[in-house]
Amino acid sequence: MLSTDPLWYKDAVFYEIHVKAFADGNGDGIGDFQGLIGKLDYLQWLGVDCIWLLPFYPSPLKDDGYDVADFLQVAEQYGTMDEVRHFLDEAHRRGIRVIVDLVLNHTSDQHTWFQQARSSPQSPKRGFYVWSNNDRTYGKARIIFIDTEKSNWTWDPEAKAFYWHRFFSHQPDLNYDNPEVRQAMLETMAFWLDQGLDGFRCDAVPYLFEREGTICENLPETHTYLKEVRRKIDVAYQGRILLAEANQWPTDVRPYFGDGDEFHMAFHFPLMPRLYMGVQSGNRDPIIDMFTHTPEIPPNCQWCLFLRNHDELTLEMCSGEERDYMYYTYARDPKMRRNIGIARRLAPLLENDRRKIELLNSLVFTLPGSPIIYYGDEIGMGDNVQLKDRDGVRTPMQWTMDRNGGFSNCDPARLYLPVVADPIYGYQSVNVESQKAMPHTLLQWMKQMIKVRKQHPAFGRGTITFLRPANGRVLVYVRRHEDTTLLLVHNLAGSAQPVELDLKEFAGSTPVELLGEARFPRVTERPYVLTLAAYGYYWLNLVPEHPRGEFYGIEQTAL
Ligand code: GLC
Ligand code: CA
Repeated sequence: MLSTDPLWYKDAVFYEIHVKAFADGNGDGIGDFQGLIGKLDYLQWLGVDCIWLLPFYPSPLKDDGYDVADFLQVAEQYGTMDEVRHFLDEAHRRGIRVIVDLVLNHTSDQHTWFQQARSSPQSPKRGFYVWSNNDRTYGKARIIFIDTEKSNWTWDPEAKAFYWHRFFSHQPDLNYDNPEVRQAMLETMAFWLDQGLDGFRCDAVPYLFEREGTICENLPETHTYLKEVRRKIDVAYQGRILLAEANQWPTDVRPYFGDGDEFHMAFHFPLMPRLYMGVQSGNRDPIIDMFTHTPEIPPNCQWCLFLRNHDELTLEMCSGEERDYMYYTYARDPKMRRNIGIARRLAPLLENDRRKIELLNSLVFTLPGSPIIYYGDEIGMGDNVQLKDRDGVRTPMQWTMDRNGGFSNCDPARLYLPVVADPIYGYQSVNVESQKAMPHTLLQWMKQMIKVRKQHPAFGRGTITFLRPANGRVLVYVRRHEDTTLLLVHNLAGSAQPVELDLKEFAGSTPVELLGEARFPRVTERPYVLTLAAYGYYWLNLVPEHPRGEFYGIEQTAL
């Protein structure tokens, strides 16, 4: 059953899935809804609360489905509308919600709107897109896909005009100055919500409107429209959410939350590379600095924290120096780079060092926000840098050591992409089945951390205060919510570290380690000394002393 709390997303653990990559139900080499339904038990076992599905709409797949040719259909290879509804029912029955990508900014050039628009200046759909007779209009807007595009304008010989696109040239931008476009997208949204979806991950929201003389990002008109989208949700679809993809600095993302009347959630893009910088340099400053620069958000809003997703690990929100550092550290081979970023998965980025993988996951599980896991990262899947574009991080999920990693029983040559088969990350060594069979695997660890996180609303809802002990290699923060106080300690260094904490404020309480329930020495007025193994971490519950000398919240046996 689904929780009834309208703020459910504040405590939720999210999981990102590409339908085509997860499980193939009909043996054609492409994942589908039928396959996905069969894996819901796994997601429930893992403790996932909400799935985010990448676009599954009809598409020429030149941008892996973000080039939508019809917003109101399911691509044939993934299944039927009935199967989508069945999938939603089955997910909901297991207490799992589902949000999907809503690609507001653009369509495929194969969408009938564009086909009609380009056919003649008199076409009723002409005004659905942004046209110009020259390629200098809106010249201040940057180019996002710098690997492939030279301009945000492309000449269309059929239309005899240039059309505007912020992404690939086969993805013309919709014209949000046109009320019909605004209406059509509201209807698209309503259509999917009526099927039972729990909300949307809204793709590329900063770029909806364009205005001469600006960088054409984050414009006030864009926020006005997004607030209208939100009103529609609040009126007719209580409990559904909007999650913003706005790859911007925190001060520019902040307005997407409005006064709690725009997006419920937004990804924290700039934090992500700083988590990697922190663990690579063994220095907590990049992480704390990013929080210092992150404004408060309204109480009904939430950050979404991630380590990886289906795109390159973006370095857009980095200085030149930081970018060089990230490339030097994590992508020395130019084959690993895409646009302004690195197209690799979590485990290979961290050289498959289980300690670092746990540490970074521990950070996204305990910093303010809701964590999202990219499919396959829970078992430490690898990538394939030889594949084009961002395909290297979109290979089939590895379920077993059987043919095609258990993803599909098809002839391996038919797979939509080859399954990773190298000696370290290949499906014979990295797969769900074998990690489920042993108690101390990465998968079991992830399951355990998710479980513990869910026992304490302070992780999703608590305030954060950073402590600044003298040892700068150790990142320490306190999360407080109602009468719970959690103390989170992370050693970012690759060697053992001591740390002396000033915990006077909590004198008398007893830290209880959340994973093993071991009681640590009681906090006093004196400096509290902890030692941490290389990349070690503690999740401690500061349990106040009970007037009768007992402790709240823990079983007597655990004491
Ligand atoms: C978003 C998606 C990315 C896609 C782009 C254009 O950034 O995450 O995969 O290529 O939008 O639609
Ligand atoms: Ca299939």
